[in-house]
Amino acid sequence: MNLRAPRPLGPGAALLPLRLFLGITFVYAGIQKLSDPGFLHPGAPTYIGTQLHGFANGTPGGFLLRAFALPQPKLAGVGVALIEIAVGLLVTAGLLTRAAAAVGLGLNLVLFLTNSWHAYPYFLGSDIVFVFAWLPFVLTGASGQPALDTGLDRLRQSQRRPAAPGGGSLSRRDVLVRALGLAGVATLGIGGAASLAKGSYRGKRGTVSLAGGSGAPVRHPAAHRQAAAKAQLPHGAVRLGPSSRLPRGKGATYRDPRDGRPDIVVRDAGGQVHAFSAVCTHAGCTVGYEGGQIVCPCHGGTYDPKTGAVTSGPPPTGLAPKRVVESGGEIYAVPS
Ligand code: FES
Repeated sequence: MNLRAPRPLGPGAALLPLRLFLGITFVYAGIQKLSDPGFLHPGAPTYIGTQLHGFANGTPGGFLLRAFALPQPKLAGVGVALIEIAVGLLVTAGLLTRAAAAVGLGLNLVLFLTNSWHAYPYFLGSDIVFVFAWLPFVLTGASGQPALDTGLDRLRQSQRRPAAPGGGSLSRRDVLVRALGLAGVATLGIGGAASLAKGSYRGKRGTVSLAGGSGAPVRHPAAHRQAAAKAQLPHGAVRLGPSSRLPRGKGATYRDPRDGRPDIVVRDAGGQVHAFSAVCTHAGCTVGYEGGQIVCPCHGGTYDPKTGAVTSGPPPTGLAPKRVVESGGEIYAVPS
């Protein structure tokens, strides 16, 4: 029997699985955001505003988020989710593949310069991998693959030939406009269905605000300086808020008095408070407190609320400990 090795695929066809993976993953990412009950709910560990603050802090792409996303975090979150769904649908169908891939690459590049910037080593943050995965499609589109773009190219070529008598077929432009309209309707339909499916956020919330609902730490006003001196608080202690706002089994985030980065303070079941950096050691997202553990909203890493040690997920190391003290019914952060 004459067994021959199968003919190798062309480079275009070999990229088809990667194109489908990117397209489906982007659709999934958009749906996952819009169907998360905490995504648009201030105070939830996965609230987009909290995530954006963490991404913008000390990263080279932070200025973009401060300019365009942080003023309207909910709008930005919904916008990004819909863009992800639209890019995913277009890439999966192979329609305007180069343009859609360029948008996908741009999105992942911004995420690499913000969300994944603190990932160490760099390849543990997935965004840089996505940037390079998009690149072949930005350069060559879906050529050599089953794709709507291929069909449209054939249509354009056939229209260059003289029309058959009585032929009234659609032009390439008509087909493109209709296909884009369909993609737009599908994006809004999928996004709307995901939003309706999410239900309301309730119950599991474990992160509270120490500072009277604004989420901002209370700076050391003169009266508190006096009280601090009386109580002999450590030098530089900054009042965060009343102890009553942090009941047992709850956590609260605040700005570190030394470097302004997010920290988290948790009161355990025994009444003791523990504080850590709230910057996830995996890729720098801001962690929250939920269901008795410290949780990272980005890739699901979890930490022990008493020690800050990693309990599951991708974070390579535990959270850096921070110092807080309670005195006179108030909680203070101590620069360390
Ligand atoms: S950033 Fe990846 S688990 Fe936190």
